[in-house]
Amino acid sequence: MVKIAVLGYGTIGSGVVEVVERNRDVLTKKAGEEISVKYILDLRDFPGDPHEQKIVHDYGIIKNDPEVSIVVEAMGGVEPAFTFARDAILAGKHFATSNKALIAKHGAELIALAKERNLNCLFEASVGGGIPIIRPLNSCLTADVIEEISGILNGTTNYMMTEMSEMGSEFDDVLKDAQQKGYAEADPTADIEGYDACRKIAILTSLAAGKQVDFEDIYTEGITRITATDIKYAKALGRRIKLLGCSYRTGDSYCAMVAPYMLEDSHPLYNVNGVFNAIFVKGNMLGDSMFYGSGAGKLPTASAVVADVVDIVRHKDKHITVQWDQEKLELADHKKLVNRYFVRTAAGQAAVEAAFGAVEYVTAEGVTGETAFVTGEMDEYAYDAAAEKLGSVLQRIRVK
Ligand code: HSE
Repeated sequence: MVKIAVLGYGTIGSGVVEVVERNRDVLTKKAGEEISVKYILDLRDFPGDPHEQKIVHDYGIIKNDPEVSIVVEAMGGVEPAFTFARDAILAGKHFATSNKALIAKHGAELIALAKERNLNCLFEASVGGGIPIIRPLNSCLTADVIEEISGILNGTTNYMMTEMSEMGSEFDDVLKDAQQKGYAEADPTADIEGYDACRKIAILTSLAAGKQVDFEDIYTEGITRITATDIKYAKALGRRIKLLGCSYRTGDSYCAMVAPYMLEDSHPLYNVNGVFNAIFVKGNMLGDSMFYGSGAGKLPTASAVVADVVDIVRHKDKHITVQWDQEKLELADHKKLVNRYFVRTAAGQAAVEAAFGAVEYVTAEGVTGETAFVTGEMDEYAYDAAAEKLGSVLQRIRVK
């Protein structure tokens, strides 16, 4: 019997307990031993909950109990999650987490600590919820140089973009709707400003490069400036607007960024709608691949966490290599990436052409008093220079 402790009894933590209970038999078969939850750490009490007796408030009880061999963290945030993770590994326990903030910041350090002690630190659920993407990058695509990772990495914003596109609604109305449906947090900043996607693309790029990518170095733009008018233009162009986390191999490094993009209908991410996530990965030998599914939610995310627990039980005495060194990767300059850009301006066509040369103009039903166009291909330095010459820019969205 393998005894685990779950830190945090919120959405994901309670999901982990539920998966362990409901799939007990299949887990026993797949892991080779029964998995049982011994403790649940939370600040709150849960009177009447079937697992009430397992609730503890003092992490020391878990850390000092030699019967607990795996600590599962589902609290979110960097602290105290990092201190608990480090203490668990130093106490000789394996560690699994769904926490992207923790892994983006301290992943390399925790992996190194676990390796030194022949333990495991796994984090499949930290990106893409229930979608297997960490294990494929770490274990399946080891024969490839990863050329590109482009993902819809945030379910809340993808739901919002889909609703804006289908209903023609404004950003604030869709945000309220997403909050009412429980997709967006009461404080939705991390989702709508792109910070959540930024941490996820930092983790994926770290795995692709095998080095530490600091999320603070990644250029990040959210969706807060996208309007119903932009959506009308996107439709006129046969495109959809999606928030993407992207990473491209350039020379010996990667160039990573998070921003809204207008995707054409042939793009593999164009049809990923609602709360779903998808990650497009291009390997230099594999070519294109796509990973699609539930990127958030209680049971999908808990399923990925418990799969890590099973993997750990299967490798109780062996460290599973995760190629992510602590050495920092200096990211390439995102402004050198070449894009086309959708632009809206109060200026007329003569001024547009004087600044940008030949462009493709676009009109949208009911929108007057402005000029909208798609530029030719240019890097961001060239775009900035042309935009400055134009003077008035009401909107700019990258086009893929
Ligand atoms: N807030 C995140 C999302 C949760 O909407 O995708 C999963 O990481």
